[in-house]
Formats: sequence, C-alpha cells, structure tokens
Amino acid sequence: MYQDKVEQIKTDISHAQANTPEELEAYRMKFISKKSVVGELFAEMRLIPNEQKKAYGQAVNEVKQLAETKFQELIEKVNSQKNGTKSMDIDLTLPATHVAVGGIHPLTSTRQRIIEIFERIGFNLSEGPEIEDDWHNFTALNFPENHPAREMQDTFFIEKNPDIALRTHTSSVQVRVMENQAPPIRTLSPGRVFRNEAISARAHCIFHQVEGLYVDENVSFADLKQTLYHFAKEMFGKNTKVRFRPSYFPFTEPSAEIDISCQLCGGKGCNICKGSGWVEIGGSGMVDPNVLENCNIDSEKYTGFAFGMGIERIAMLKYQINDLRLFTENDIRFLKQFRSFL
Ligand code: PHE
Repeated sequence: MYQDKVEQIKTDISHAQANTPEELEAYRMKFISKKSVVGELFAEMRLIPNEQKKAYGQAVNEVKQLAETKFQELIEKVNSQKNGTKSMDIDLTLPATHVAVGGIHPLTSTRQRIIEIFERIGFNLSEGPEIEDDWHNFTALNFPENHPAREMQDTFFIEKNPDIALRTHTSSVQVRVMENQAPPIRTLSPGRVFRNEAISARAHCIFHQVEGLYVDENVSFADLKQTLYHFAKEMFGKNTKVRFRPSYFPFTEPSAEIDISCQLCGGKGCNICKGSGWVEIGGSGMVDPNVLENCNIDSEKYTGFAFGMGIERIAMLKYQINDLRLFTENDIRFLKQFRSFL
C-alpha cells in the first residue's frame, strides 16, 4: 500500500535536520532531487491503477510540498548560523572580561627617569660589558696592582682566569668611553653590577648603578656640584638638599660621597637616615689625571668629573621601599603598587 510509504516519507521529512551546507545537500539529494524518494514516488505513478491515480497524485504532491517547505526552512537555518546571527545571544549588560595589564618595574622607571634628567642637559648614553677585564674594572681606574683598594669591593672572578671578572661598578664604562672617544665627553652609563656580598635588606650581590662622566676643558668641581644639585631637585623635588662628604676613590681626586636630605623625615632625623637627616646616593669626584692618561687623554688640557649612583638606592628613597630584596623577589603584591607606571 502506497499510503504507508507516503506516511513514512512525511515522518522522515519532518524529522530531517541540517546544520551545515553538507547536510543540506544530503537532504536535497534524499528528498528533492529527481532520484530522491519523492522523485521515486512520481516515477511510480505509472504503476498505480487508474482509479487510484488521482488520490495518489494528490498525496505525492503534498509530500513534494512538504519536502520543499522543509528545505527552505533548513536553508535559512544554515545561512543564519554562517552569518553569525547567533551573536545576538551575547548579553551586552554583563561586565567585561578582565584583561590583566602589567606595569613597569620600579627599577626600570627609576632608570628611565634618571636618563631623562641627564639627557636634557646634554648627556648621551653608553654601555659596556658586564663581564670585564682587570684593566677596565681596576687598573685603568688607578687601582694599583695588589693594592688593598681593590678589596673595597668584593669581586666575583672567573675561575682560572684572574684577569676576567664581573664588573663591580659601572666606572669600567668610563674607561671604555674615554678610550674610544675624544673630549668633549658627556655620557651616562646605566647598568648591572656584581659584588660578592651576602644578600640582606640593604645589600645584594647584583644591583644597578648609573655612571656619569663629563670631560672637557675647564670642567671644575663646581660643575659637578651644580649637575648633581640639578639632578636631585629634578628627581626628588625642589626642596631636596645635597651635601658632598669628602671621601676616597682611586679614580677621582678629590672624591666626595653624595648625600641628599632624607626623603622620609625631610632632614629632621628618622630611622631611615639613622637620625642624621641625610642619606647617601653615590660617589663622585674629579677624574684623576692618571685615569685620563691611561685612556690617552691629555690631562694638562682636559679635566673631568664623574659620579656613580645606585639605582636601587634612588628607587628606595623615592618610593620609600625599605628592603632591597623586594626588587628581585617578584612578589606580585609589591609590583602591583607600581602598576600605573605605564
Ligand atoms: N664606582 C664607585 C662605586 O661603585 C662610585 C664612583 C663613580 C665614585 C664615579 C666616583 C666617581 O662605589
């Protein structure tokens, strides 16, 4: 009986699904094309006895209609998926996904600020290697061989080669610049330095310095003082005072330690400045004529000043950080406080 067959096809059509163009094509082959089950129904018309032909024709046309309506529905469904109309499901009132934004490390931003200040008064940037030879780190800087002054800084030497060491200060870059460049020289050399010291709140075996060097005719100690006054006011604020304390370095004569008024108590005395009102930020002095001569610069004609400051020290004073180790521990709670430094 053809009625059963027609009913079966109708059920199949109503259950048919298509989510992709491939499935749509499969549907077309199965229910629409000439060779489809519906097409077959038409072909079988000739086997139907005459008196039933009318009813059969009607039933088959109905199936055809059904198959085509369903086909249109499926086409629309597949197309709408392709066009992403589904995105209408997005709820625009929901809070946005959180994107974690990093920040600049306080040491990086401090270094950047120092560079900016000196660049504006005509200093360029220079760099040297972290693994140095004895000449650049010591000998050219007027450290006599076997002189106890070398022990002012506990040096990491390379095993089996006492000529090679991790630089203990950025003063080695002074030598490299002077060897390669004729005066006038005005250069700033930030970089990492290494000393064999136990790690504590106040000391680390790896830290950062920034070296300044100015060599020209008639450079005087007054120039050194003015330059560092300017720096201190730009870095820490207008009311910051600077004090030069006599000191000793083999490569400068005279030499002076640079102190600034304590940022915490404003000079009144607190536990950070140990009651003195002053904190040290680095060393400085007039370049020793021996150093100029070691770098083939005529010390009769030229004079110069140099300074070296600790970047950690400056950052600690600026942001009131009381433990040096915080810079390298990568504790997110510490770093987060500097997030706005983009
Ligand atoms: N290199 C010295 C230090 O590391 C600092 C310094 C630099 C002093 C330049 C004088 C001139 O302590």
